[in-house]
Amino acid sequence: MYEKYSEAMKNLTLSIMELLGLSLGIGKDYYRDFFQDCDYITRCNYYPPCPQPELTQGTGPHTDPVALTILHQQDKEEGLEIFTGGKWQSVPPVPGAFVVNIGDTFMAMTNDMYKSCLHRAVVNQHSSRQSIAFFVLPRRNKVIRAHDSLIGPNDKRLYPDFTWSQLEAFTQKCCRADDKTIKNFVQFLSESSSAE
Ligand code: OGA
Ligand code: NI
Repeated sequence: MYEKYSEAMKNLTLSIMELLGLSLGIGKDYYRDFFQDCDYITRCNYYPPCPQPELTQGTGPHTDPVALTILHQQDKEEGLEIFTGGKWQSVPPVPGAFVVNIGDTFMAMTNDMYKSCLHRAVVNQHSSRQSIAFFVLPRRNKVIRAHDSLIGPNDKRLYPDFTWSQLEAFTQKCCRADDKTIKNFVQFLSESSSAE
């Protein structure tokens, strides 16, 4: 069952990569090829009911450091919120639909043409809530670098080249993923390269 789910999600990932490449004018194969051999992590989230939801955070505000997250909200309870238009807004579950979330790594691959999305999960008093997050990660040693055509003549590269291995190690050793992970990571990279 799990094997079947992963296989279907991998195919879905590659189709989404085609659409993202087309939307940026760099062709349908570019990201598809890049992510052809990528890695995946599945996380099952369980949020029990909480008598005083205002005192707890559920999953605190963060952007996902990965390339892409495909989230399945399993039941009809709301809980996922995104920060947009200056406020937190619920993303109610739609039966049969996934939420596709751009992560920090994909944002860097597009030099911020696509932005990673600030989100959180809140809990409620009455019922538990479950979700399945399918995280898409580049192969560990592949260089993350925005395609040349995404850097306009007057733009500069906003991120140094890095690998998922480096960003993963940073999120695991230095800090929990939050809303400043990628900014802190870029700072950390520039400090470590100037110390060399
Ligand atoms: C996550 C996440 C949201 C949710 O797992 O990174 O943001 O609704 N989950 O469970
Ligand atoms: Ni998340």
